[in-house]
Amino acid sequence: MRVIEFSQYGPASVLQQADRPLPEPSSGQLRIKVHAVGVNPADTKWRSGMMQSFSPKTLPLVVGYDIAGVVDAIGPDVTGFAQGDRVFTALTMTMGGYAEYVLSDASWLARIPAELDFAAAATLPTPGLTGFQLIEEHVRPASGSLVLVTGATGAVGRLATFAAKRLGATVVAAVRASQRDEALAAGADHTIVLGEDDWSGVPFDHVADTVGGNAAAKLCTHLAPNGTIHTVAMPPLSGEELPVPAQFVAVHPDPAKLEEIGGLLAKVAFSLPIVRQLPLAEAAEAHSLVEAGGAGGKVVLLV
Ligand SMILES: NC(=O)c1ccc[n+]([C@@H]2O[C@H](COP(=O)([O-])OP(=O)(O)OC[C@H]3O[C@@H](n4cnc5c(N)ncnc54)[C@H](OP(=O)(O)O)[C@@H]3O)[C@@H](O)[C@H]2O)c1
Repeated sequence: MRVIEFSQYGPASVLQQADRPLPEPSSGQLRIKVHAVGVNPADTKWRSGMMQSFSPKTLPLVVGYDIAGVVDAIGPDVTGFAQGDRVFTALTMTMGGYAEYVLSDASWLARIPAELDFAAAATLPTPGLTGFQLIEEHVRPASGSLVLVTGATGAVGRLATFAAKRLGATVVAAVRASQRDEALAAGADHTIVLGEDDWSGVPFDHVADTVGGNAAAKLCTHLAPNGTIHTVAMPPLSGEELPVPAQFVAVHPDPAKLEEIGGLLAKVAFSLPIVRQLPLAEAAEAHSLVEAGGAGGKVVLLV
């Protein structure tokens, strides 16, 4: 089977196509025929070597967390799935998604709602779980509380905004000037321009950061007493001016939640914008687009 791998850390051009044997599912596993892979910023950070000190890897490495496809082969001791079932997952523990086929534990797989095609489904696993876990498990805003979401038109930021609004919070989106209308359309109540505007309203009860850096740290000075700061950004939000330390939130696998998120979003026709769909062979172009910033939405590889 075809994969996209790299044998040395470096720029997007280190990504190369290679052939690997078709993997055979062992006990508890399924083999998925991948149809679409969502490209995440983390994929580019693994490739560049930025994550090497955080978690050393053996090269060559196939990156890619977010896959959507169909069940192709079923290993021993798996129940509840049949060949052809449409499934999606975040391969949070293994990566390896830039491939024609992947193995997954049955317990990590979620079913794709009928309303979503493979590309739309592949945009959701990591951003969806990260955005919802950030809000529902960590920020836990009370109804009516004020939450600052930085990068609110990014993939995680949009879904964090969705999750916060669902809990009845008021969301202030800190975005680029060109993203203000989009942030309001995605559910935010107010917008400010990150790095340019200061905040003059009542203090934030919570900060949910997806950007990191000095500008986001500066806005944290408007935190209410007993307020909280959480960040998913890589590298995480930090700085001497933070009134309380920022708690780093790492996404964890939760297929039941992913299935719930897929259903919730499909019901209200809320989706992450897809700006480019490229063949798997053009993974290097996909990485360049994501690394350049300003893409305005998800880049998806079609397999
Ligand atoms: N901790 C975890 O488990 C976890 C999980 C998933 C993601 N992450 C991290 O979370 C971050 C966001 O991921 P994502 O998938 O949401 O990425 P994304 O879709 O690229 O979104 C990032 C958003 O932040 C905006 N942004 C970046 N720098 C900005 C600045 N200086 N001022 C204003 N806006 C700025 C981007 O706008 P432009 O496109 O215009 O730059 C974009 O809208 C990344 O660092 C990613 O690695 C962490």
